Amino acid sequence: MENLTKAADKIKNSAYLSCFTGAGISIESGIPVFRGADGLYSKFDQSLLEISSYQYNTSKSWKAIKKVFYDSFINAKPNLAHKILSKWETNGLLKSVTTQNIDNLHRQAGSKNVIEYHGNKEYFVCFDCEERYANEELKLTQDPPKCLKCGGLLKPDFIFFGEPIPTNAANQSYKEAKKSDVHLIIGTTGTVQPAAYIPYYAKKAGALIIEINPDVSSFTTTLSDIFIKMKASEAMQKLDKIIFS
Ligand code: APR
Repeated sequence: MENLTKAADKIKNSAYLSCFTGAGISIESGIPVFRGADGLYSKFDQSLLEISSYQYNTSKSWKAIKKVFYDSFINAKPNLAHKILSKWETNGLLKSVTTQNIDNLHRQAGSKNVIEYHGNKEYFVCFDCEERYANEELKLTQDPPKCLKCGGLLKPDFIFFGEPIPTNAANQSYKEAKKSDVHLIIGTTGTVQPAAYIPYYAKKAGALIIEINPDVSSFTTTLSDIFIKMKASEAMQKLDKIIFS
């Protein structure tokens, strides 16, 4: 409880609070994490997320991607952790969220200043003419999606392994981290670069690092000043209650 009180005090009195989230914030919305016993990568061949695999083995790669990232996510809704972050942004406490997640749940929860470091599964882009589509404009079937304009192959607008991070997202997240005096990490193993550098930029800029995770991560012993060993929704509810009571 002491960590929660300390963290709530630092958040409440922060001048520039930023947040960095990973798959762990969405597990309570029914979206599995990537790593660990029941993680996606224990059921899904991670190599199918290589951009070269999507371009060369398109049909096989697309079938797996559709099953994992579209069919199974379809009913996922923001949970309390997403909603509290959105509330903190509305009342000016939280300045931005940089997320590794492609599930669009921060935006669905109402967060506006969301930096989608790995893109967003709600959109597709054409390899040939670069036309961009929202999911709703397409009818996703077992066949790889095709551009309505030029017939080219469409790609989900999230970052595949082997692809560069969107320049705007990389720059924005770096700037946000450097401006922070308090930086909140929620639900990530911190094992995927370059995303996992973001909390280090914040730390280097002098930010106090608060981490929420039921398990230890690569940040816990090296970077985090306050570690809240809890699930995201429970920790965020408790913090919110202390801050606004
Ligand atoms: N609340 C908070 N954190 C949780 C919860 C929970 N209820 N349940 C699990 N976690 C934590 C796990 O302890 C773990 O540290 O969520 C983290 C999930 O880690 P990963 O599956 O590695 O997900 P993430 O860190 O977001 O992966 C980063 O890897 O494959 C790429 O692009 C993919 O964005 C992803 C990146």
